[in-house]
Amino acid sequence: MDTGHSYKEPKLMDGGSYIKEASDKGKNLIIFFSPKAHDEVGALVSYLEPFRKHNVNLHHIESRSSTRYEDRYEFKIECSSRDEKGLDAALEALKDRCEYFNVISRNHTNNDDARPWFPRRMRELDQFANQILSYGAELDADHPGFTDAAYRARRKYFADIAYGYKHGEPIPRVEYTKDEIETWGKVFKQLVTLYPTHACKEHNHVFPLLIQNCGYSENRIPQLQDISDFLRDCTGFTLRPVAGLLSSRDFLAGLAFRVFHSTQYVRHPSKPLYTPEPDVCHELLGHVPLFADPAFAQFSQEIGLASLGAPDEYVEKIATCYWFTVEFGICRQNGKLKAFGAGLLSSYGELEYCLSDKPMLKPFDPPSTAQQKYPITEYQPIYFVAESFEDAKDKMIKYAQTIPRNFGVRYNAYTQTVEVLDSKTQVKELLQKTGQDIIFLTDVMSRIMMNT
Ligand SMILES: [Fe+2]
Repeated sequence: MDTGHSYKEPKLMDGGSYIKEASDKGKNLIIFFSPKAHDEVGALVSYLEPFRKHNVNLHHIESRSSTRYEDRYEFKIECSSRDEKGLDAALEALKDRCEYFNVISRNHTNNDDARPWFPRRMRELDQFANQILSYGAELDADHPGFTDAAYRARRKYFADIAYGYKHGEPIPRVEYTKDEIETWGKVFKQLVTLYPTHACKEHNHVFPLLIQNCGYSENRIPQLQDISDFLRDCTGFTLRPVAGLLSSRDFLAGLAFRVFHSTQYVRHPSKPLYTPEPDVCHELLGHVPLFADPAFAQFSQEIGLASLGAPDEYVEKIATCYWFTVEFGICRQNGKLKAFGAGLLSSYGELEYCLSDKPMLKPFDPPSTAQQKYPITEYQPIYFVAESFEDAKDKMIKYAQTIPRNFGVRYNAYTQTVEVLDSKTQVKELLQKTGQDIIFLTDVMSRIMMNT
């Protein structure tokens, strides 16, 4: 299909690059444990003795009521040691005395119980700001803004905002320059002509609402905080600014909390239709509309939850599923193919190309999609087609069950925490609650039936 827009034009490399795989290199080990019996006051000292004996440094100690055993305490310890053998010996000694013992690690130790660390509370996402793989102001030599000192200074300004951002604070408002608004306007103007025919119905449903509620317009770049407020009202999703590249593990963990890490800067004005990394045009035009859709929000969160504590090779597979859905997904609606991936919805060229007869299409199927290799600097040769967001979500949940984890995770929206389920007591309590929900729903159904 000749679209009149040459496929040789610079290609929008998508924001999926924000989830470049990298290994976690944190130093500390986190241990949760519950003593076996009701110990006398001060027993903690004796539990910590193996750490002293093996020269393990303790950085943080916390106690709380156990969620797993009645009338028991649970301790959380953060520690580190240069001597791996000494550390393992201390852990073994402690483990023998505990009813419950779990090691959560950013490193891979010899300890079989170790699982990769992941945030349990939404505010722990603040830690990712210090773990970015590259600072936003550092541009590669082939970046369009590499030799532009003013642009680099501007990028540093945005990176500093994100770097200093803390959970719960309003996202600082930015006064965009004339150049930035002009660049945004060029991208906006082009894309809106394609949305009615190429975007999925959910995107087309939400887009006018963003114009109405968040000030989306050709002449104005909306503010992240306004969009975040809008999304929170729709699906509970929120945005938080990101200073640079996050690892896949960290980026996906945000989705488990319905938090999307968003850039705030604008691409270089010399190439308005090209960006080598995600920018505010990609996030706001591509990602944001879909996060306002309940089924898509749920699907995105399932991807995030599946990644928590998963082994590295599985995080990579889940990131690949993310790539072929949230970034480059196509779906079937009323017998027609429509785009829902943000990388497509923010690139005029690829949005046309993906629905032409040029690329290869395959059905979205996580076990095989997760294996697919993909280029990041050119249009995708292969796209995966989802039957619906609901269907894609069900398939992701099923796929998550194949991930080797000896625990389950569940998001508690009231407390904005991820609950780790790894004891019979917890599962029993949840089953009880589910039983109560069923009784409630059955009752409501019978009332409705009586009135119809
Ligand atoms: Fe993206």
